[in-house]
Amino acid sequence: MKLALLGGTGRIGGHLLSWALESGHDVQALARDPEALAVAARQPVRTGSGSGSGSGSGGLGSGGSGSGGLGSVGRGSLTVTAGDALDASAVAAVVSGADAVLSALGPRGAKSPDLLGGAARNITAAMASARVRRLICVSAAGAFIKGDPDTGALVKAILPRILAKPFADTQQMEAVIRASDLDWTLVRATRLVNTARTGRYRVRPDYPPVGGGKISRADVADFIGRVLTDDDWVRGAPSLAY
Ligand SMILES: NC(=O)c1ccc[n+]([C@@H]2O[C@H](COP(=O)([O-])OP(=O)(O)OC[C@H]3O[C@@H](n4cnc5c(N)ncnc54)[C@H](OP(=O)(O)O)[C@@H]3O)[C@@H](O)[C@H]2O)c1
Repeated sequence: MKLALLGGTGRIGGHLLSWALESGHDVQALARDPEALAVAARQPVRTGSGSGSGSGSGGLGSGGSGSGGLGSVGRGSLTVTAGDALDASAVAAVVSGADAVLSALGPRGAKSPDLLGGAARNITAAMASARVRRLICVSAAGAFIKGDPDTGALVKAILPRILAKPFADTQQMEAVIRASDLDWTLVRATRLVNTARTGRYRVRPDYPPVGGGKISRADVADFIGRVLTDDDWVRGAPSLAY
């Protein structure tokens, strides 16, 4: 498949990128720093033809503009568009021609409190215009914990206060995506850890599996890979935990 990937230089995104290339998919990635993506992929990349300000081609390591080709990781190919997820034209460039869009975006520190909502607006608009239907997006279970009948009152009182800003951004992102006509899946991760992929975790609609509090970034990517071509979670919000 042709997969558009946002957040490929990040931790979940890095696992997604490796999985996609190893699985033989052709990845079109948006990255603010294409060099970082080339390092993460450990293979030469093609530069895309981004059309907006901030997007477009840049010299890329050993690959160089237009050289591409398959490298040491996997059978898939990687094309990168340099740009920002808050730049609508850069997002449109990376989404164009894709069979599905994967987003593992996350705010780096507190610098962009509206990243997820703003990016969701660009992604859904670009997908509608390019007639791309499948979207899988990383979300956060904690942002919706208040509605969970199985979470204690203390956690419900404290967590949303401590993480008010990122949770508001996550809620905005989900609202934008849910209002779209796309075949979306919002993957609601519990607390992220960096342990290895296990392929064994519990999944519950909307709220964390009872008693589960964490999931590795590698297993979030594993789940996304599993549901990409599966209708089970279309227009659903699976929450993951061990
Ligand atoms: N922390 C938790 O316990 C927890 C729990 C549940 C859910 N989550 C969710 O998990 C996600 C974070 O996953 P992670 O840890 O894999 O993230 P991460 O490692 O921090 O990676 C974030 C990615 O987003 C990219 N990004 C940020 N701003 C961008 C912009 N303006 N334009 C383009 N790309 C941009 C970063 O690119 P650069 O390399 O250019 O910065 C990077 O690729 C968030 O959505 C968060 O809500 C977190």
